[in-house]
Amino acid sequence: MNYWEDLEWRMTKTVSPDWKPGAGANDDSGKGVKKVEIDPYGPGREPRDNYKLMISAITPRFIGFISTVSKDGKTTNLAPFSYTTMVNSDPPIMVVGISSGMENKKDTLQNILDTGELTINVISEWFLEAANYTAIDAPLGVSEFALSGLTPLPSSKVKPPHVAESAFSIEAKLVSHHPWFSPATGKNTAVTIFAEGVNFHVREDVWVPGSEGTLVDIAKLKPVSRLGGIMYGRTTAGCEIPRAGFKVEKEREEVKQILEKEGLGLAHAIPLDAILLRDGLDLAPQRTTFVEEFLPSVYVKAVGFVQLELPAGDGGVQDGAVGDLAVVVEEPEVPGHDAGEADETPPADHAAEPTKGNVLSQTC
Ligand SMILES: Cc1cc2nc3c(=O)[nH]c(=O)nc-3n(C[C@H](O)[C@H](O)[C@H](O)COP(=O)(O)O)c2cc1C
Repeated sequence: MNYWEDLEWRMTKTVSPDWKPGAGANDDSGKGVKKVEIDPYGPGREPRDNYKLMISAITPRFIGFISTVSKDGKTTNLAPFSYTTMVNSDPPIMVVGISSGMENKKDTLQNILDTGELTINVISEWFLEAANYTAIDAPLGVSEFALSGLTPLPSSKVKPPHVAESAFSIEAKLVSHHPWFSPATGKNTAVTIFAEGVNFHVREDVWVPGSEGTLVDIAKLKPVSRLGGIMYGRTTAGCEIPRAGFKVEKEREEVKQILEKEGLGLAHAIPLDAILLRDGLDLAPQRTTFVEEFLPSVYVKAVGFVQLELPAGDGGVQDGAVGDLAVVVEEPEVPGHDAGEADETPPADHAAEPTKGNVLSQTC
């Protein structure tokens, strides 16, 4: 086994920089390989098998390094949780999955339920061993800050201190929790925490220069992720790919051909006898609106956005009625619903922006 190498972050091109719409995967060699189907509760299967399968396949996972305090405020607790991720940014919402039931709570769960507060810290390469050590099953009342040698820093809006060694920390408050029960045993096996971030702490040397307040530089953050078993992953290379926007893409020859082939040519009118107009849909003539959910049609799934054109004098169209309209595929104009924006992207200015500073947007 090799020793740890001090790897610098590097940007690369994608595997297939000349990829074109419709081209599919850049390596199809695994496409025909047989897949094994597994019922999580099939005969002879143990919950542990699903745990091992899932943590080795669902990778890499962000690790929330979570600090809490006991009910009496006298002891701090610190432990890593890789069932942690952000699920929203407005408001900032994090989820943490804790694999212990209410009967036998991990200290972190006990403290969160008792106090309603926690901090979530990013683990970086420079304190990986110490962070890993805090997973020790020390009893409630023994602080993993002391055992690991990591440093508690007072937080501003919650009682748990955050981790001084972490370059990015979130002070958070419990919003709700949800218990889970094993279908096999009926026992409460886990609890998921929803928490709202109420304060961020960012080490000032990890910003992308010129983007203070918004962009953290991955090359400086050096986040560590969890892989299968007891393996960790480093974040040492990446590439950027611009988001596709339908307005531009529909002019590309390859896209035109796909749309024509699928019967989705831009001037192609789809009869609307399949469209049930729902409550609240404003059908002003020429209004461009996002109607994917209103159209039970593969066409719209493929296109995403359509323009509804009402016949002159649209008074005859009622909510819930079937209209004799025509749908013409049009460019999206609804803010935040641009075809080039993925769900996790805030409907704001930096949706598809390449990272500034340390990378060239043309690199991939
Ligand atoms: C990298 C890593 C990730 C972990 N992720 C989780 C997790 O998502 N959920 C969980 O219940 N335990 C997880 N654990 C185990 C807990 O950290 C461990 O049970 C710890 O002792 C809990 O501490 P506490 O009792 O002080 O809360 C993880 C351990 C490691 C090393």
